[in-house]
Amino acid sequence: MPIYKPTSTNIKKAASIIKAGGIAAFPTETVYGLGADAFNPSAAVKIFEAKKRPFFDPLIVHISAIDMLGRLIANASSLEMELAEKFWPGPLTIIFEKKKTVPDIITAGLPTVAVRIPANRIALDLINESDTAIAAPSANPFNYISPTTALHVEKQLGTEVEMILDGGECSVGLESTIIKTEGKKILILRQGGIEIDLLREFSDDIKIISAGSSVESPGQMEYHYSPATMVKIVDKITVDDYSNPGFGFLFFKTPICDYPNERSEVLSNAGDIKEAAANFFSALHTLDEKGLDLILAEKVPDSGLGSAIMDRLVKASKRHKGES
Ligand code: TXA
Ligand code: MG
Repeated sequence: MPIYKPTSTNIKKAASIIKAGGIAAFPTETVYGLGADAFNPSAAVKIFEAKKRPFFDPLIVHISAIDMLGRLIANASSLEMELAEKFWPGPLTIIFEKKKTVPDIITAGLPTVAVRIPANRIALDLINESDTAIAAPSANPFNYISPTTALHVEKQLGTEVEMILDGGECSVGLESTIIKTEGKKILILRQGGIEIDLLREFSDDIKIISAGSSVESPGQMEYHYSPATMVKIVDKITVDDYSNPGFGFLFFKTPICDYPNERSEVLSNAGDIKEAAANFFSALHTLDEKGLDLILAEKVPDSGLGSAIMDRLVKASKRHKGES
């Protein structure tokens, strides 16, 4: 079992793996990450191999304090710095102009680098102990749903990774919001843990770049975040649907009738969108393990964190069983 309690001894052990050019999985507030030294290209290669991730998909680099930015970026605009100061540590990834010393494998040859400070004590301690910036994508096989528990990581990548630090369930449960600035404009490359409305204070020119426009965010394939089981989004799950034994159900909140049963997951009994986000990937993992023909997913309110959940549901619904 590569799962380890996050004691200081174990965090040091994970840090020594990373320092020696290996990979280790660790919790963040968003999802679990698979980390390697951001300045060691051959360590980064191991991440791509473990995840079977194509090399054209760049990684996010994690730091533990704003003053580490200087190791990674050539310069930052005042808007970028304001955003970093406001939202870090937290689920906001900012795309900066990179320093030449950041290896090309990290950025897929782009002149930019994606950076964030995670709001998770274990992740921060690991970065500090490793004494380097840690490049880490979500710790799942490429295009599969992200892990929000150590067990999810072990089930998916347990044979690929020596150590998984167990930080329990991720508090946010959705990946970070990824942004890039252009002058005063904020481009949203991926919706995530920071609601877009929170960014309006910093710019009145915010544009969401749609999935599949590969130039902006190479990893944002239309079918990212897919379980193996086919997913269909519906307005409401009906009693008829419910009688089909091959169907699984993802409810936003507790339905009024006599569901749920063992083929259904409820994101938040009270209909709380934060709780729904935190439970979202776990619910998909659970349903995906049941070998169902189809997962029917009820729409969630399409605003704030709800938009980030809907974005992932739409992507999941675009991939069919059997495709990879
Ligand atoms: O919450 C998160 O962001 C988690 C945790 C571990 O921090 N990480 C994560 O990483 O979701 P990953 O690799 O699964 O997604 C990173 C996304 C990819 O879609 C990638 O294309 C995009 O970030 N990205 C990375 N560097 C970029 C860059 N320089 N320009 C545009 N997009 C970039
Ligand atoms: Mg990912």
